[in-house]
Amino acid sequence: MKLLEDRILTDGVVLGEDVLKVDNFLNHQIDPVLMQEIGNEFARIFKGRGINKIITIESSGIAPAVFAGLKMEVPVIFARKHKSLTLTDNLYSASVYSFTKNVTNEIAVSKNFLDASDNVLLIDDFLANGQAAIGLIDICKQAGAKVSGMGIVIEKSFQKGRQIVEESGVDIASLARIEAFVDGKVTFVKEEEA
Ligand code: G4P
Ligand code: NA
Ligand code: NA
Repeated sequence: MKLLEDRILTDGVVLGEDVLKVDNFLNHQIDPVLMQEIGNEFARIFKGRGINKIITIESSGIAPAVFAGLKMEVPVIFARKHKSLTLTDNLYSASVYSFTKNVTNEIAVSKNFLDASDNVLLIDDFLANGQAAIGLIDICKQAGAKVSGMGIVIEKSFQKGRQIVEESGVDIASLARIEAFVDGKVTFVKEEEA
């Protein structure tokens, strides 16, 4: 998505070897005009698959997911994050280990909002090592829900998340695919490889 790639080039800041800071439009301050374009693009890509629900994870997945939900006219659920869960009654939950932050969070979705009749689109802001994605897929599996796709705003294609999600059989569409950070500059996966 050209608009998003341009914004990453203008406002993204590369931190160290493998982190892209996008605090001024996605992870802290949010640009609603850009988020709406992103939501519309997800709606276009995943049209016609019978999706009746979107699931994301708090916090940064919520903005793009809500705009996709607005266009697709379906509800949006955000999985909640906790350090650990004691009361798991009436919840689907999964453990998500973050390589970036070296911490494990439990993510959970209430059984009130997801069941075997659902056909789900998963959305997240970043795809890095794929652990959050796998956790969401696992939660849908527990519910017996169908997963019809995963929409990612920014994929770091040099990390292993995409491969892990593809191995689980879920179709991914990433709106920006970062190939590498070269001397602090972002390069994207070329169209023909994408
Ligand atoms: P994984 O789920 O793909 O395995 O990702 P990882 O553990 O590496 O990432 C943990 C957190 O860091 C996630 O956000 C993820 O979205 C974010 N993240 C990973 N790589 C980058 C990056 O290059 N830039 C930015 N800005 N974020 C990155 P989170 O902790 O769940 O936080 P939230 O922002 O959604 O609240
Ligand atoms: Na994040
Ligand atoms: Na996220």
